[in-house]
Amino acid sequence: MSALLNLSHVTKIYRQGGMLGRRRITAVKDVSFALGEEPEILSIVGESGSGKSTIAAMILGQTAPTQGELEFCGRAVSIHGRSERRAFMNKVQPVLQNPFEAFNPMKRVDRYLFETARNLSASGKQPERRQVERVADAALMHVGLTLEEVKGRFPHELSGGQLQRVAIARALIPQPRLLVADEPVSMVDASLRMAIVNLFGRLKSELGLSIIYITHDLATAYYISDRIIIMRKGEIAEQGEARKVLDNPQHPYSRALKDAVLSADFAAMS
Ligand SMILES: Nc1ncnc2c1ncn2[C@@H]1O[C@H](COP(=O)(O)OP(=O)(O)O)[C@@H](O)[C@H]1O
Ligand SMILES: [Mg+2]
Repeated sequence: MSALLNLSHVTKIYRQGGMLGRRRITAVKDVSFALGEEPEILSIVGESGSGKSTIAAMILGQTAPTQGELEFCGRAVSIHGRSERRAFMNKVQPVLQNPFEAFNPMKRVDRYLFETARNLSASGKQPERRQVERVADAALMHVGLTLEEVKGRFPHELSGGQLQRVAIARALIPQPRLLVADEPVSMVDASLRMAIVNLFGRLKSELGLSIIYITHDLATAYYISDRIIIMRKGEIAEQGEARKVLDNPQHPYSRALKDAVLSADFAAMS
């Protein structure tokens, strides 16, 4: 079977304390999973420190595994040459936790979209302004915004939810195959979270994108994902179809996580 992404026995050990430091932290231990060619949303769920962001960083090629292999479209993630590396980075796009960190507060947000569109124009010559605006507008449309709404705006003039959607629009411009979204709604107002999570569902069906949705929010993970991986202390505690994992969690940790989410939801409602 050809896979979009394949992680095979991936382990990441961080060494802390410089040259003489003996402290080793096993952040990720023997993790294997794959995404097929068919678009899907895979959630990676687990408490803080369970290794979720480390997995994201390795998939994005930002850090290399200590052991094991990661492949994207059949090629090792970590050994791309320069131009291949650029093509890879277009195909696998990150969505960050805090959209305010993705934007310079002094720079109008539409500039980011225009620059991304311009950098991508294949021929060396500068594309026309109108064409760049069209690309930006089309990307914004996919996230439920228009260029009219964000034009000339600074990051602080948008809500966290809007800014996260602009960040996602920008990530769409290079026409990626995979989004790696690391806690993308944890900084967004609770009332706007579902809108972003629903957006992922639309991007999957409309653009054929696969999405790795990293969260500690079991409720949104259950709602949106096809498959779920539950991480515990760097290891996969349980994985499978979202329905099966959460309707009938096998691992005691998955059950505890489910109960915690249900009671938190209940407390929030009462
Ligand atoms: N750059 C780093 N150097 C040393 N330890 C790290 C580094 N990044 C993460 N860790 C440690 O690795 C473990 C997993 O962290 P992380 O992948 O960020 O988990 P999560 O995203 O699930 O909260 C934690 O114990 C964390 O302290
Ligand atoms: Mg994290």
